[in-house]
Amino acid sequence: MAQNIYDNAEFFAGYSGLRRSVHGLAGAPEWPAIRALIPNLAGKRVIDLGCGFGWFARWARENGAEHVSGYDLSEKMIARAKADTSDPNIVYTIADLDRLELPEASFDFAYSSLALHYVVDFERLIRAVHRALLPDSQFVFTIEHPIYMAPSRPGWTVDSEGRRTWPVDGYAIEGPRVTDWLAKGVVKQHRMLGTTLNALIKTGFSIRHLQEWSPTGEDLAAIPDLADERERPMMMIVAAGR
Ligand SMILES: C[S@@+](CC[C@H](N)C(=O)[O-])C[C@H]1O[C@@H](n2cnc3c(N)ncnc32)[C@H](O)[C@@H]1O
Repeated sequence: MAQNIYDNAEFFAGYSGLRRSVHGLAGAPEWPAIRALIPNLAGKRVIDLGCGFGWFARWARENGAEHVSGYDLSEKMIARAKADTSDPNIVYTIADLDRLELPEASFDFAYSSLALHYVVDFERLIRAVHRALLPDSQFVFTIEHPIYMAPSRPGWTVDSEGRRTWPVDGYAIEGPRVTDWLAKGVVKQHRMLGTTLNALIKTGFSIRHLQEWSPTGEDLAAIPDLADERERPMMMIVAAGR
């Protein structure tokens, strides 16, 4: 079972103050790249895995989706999603993606933003998503890039002054990695790039696009804090066909 760090009060307060939590999709610099991969959602039934505050669910409905089912482990995230949404065709459910069962052949589009690196059994979830999607549908997700993962050995990627250096150590050692981001002891799951992509391929998805996202010059001019993202990709954007 995955850790539920978003319900930790300190973590939740920190996360709520991030640009993407305050401004939603407009505050996520990778959003234009994701947006370009999203098919026409008119009349579509959508699942959002790790929906957080529900920013994407609301956008999907504003852009024609018939229904959105958002799943998230965190009671606090879901509580705010519900408070910020007044749309009977968006249903938020507290659920662990490591145990989630979905109705067969019931959705036309699956989405997930920065949640899948918390999932322990990635392949199990991908099989569940594949079963839940109708033929010819699509799955677009972002996930932390494995090169960005926390070190497997304390101090490995920190220089003598305590500044983080890159890239990740122990790349081939898959499994939990612990980092201190917004709170101490945040657990994420390290998987090699091949493991993530092969889980999709083995399940029957075809990879349509893989982007190791980094900011454009324009992004950097607008948000100079993004400079680290040029040193190594922090996330991947994947579009897969069912
Ligand atoms: C970085 S936030 C992203 C939220 C939202 N997708 C967005 O982009 O605004 C990651 C979300 O994944 C959720 N999450 C983490 N592990 C999960 C799990 N095992 N099952 C369901 N949700 C999980 C967290 O509670 C959190 O809301």
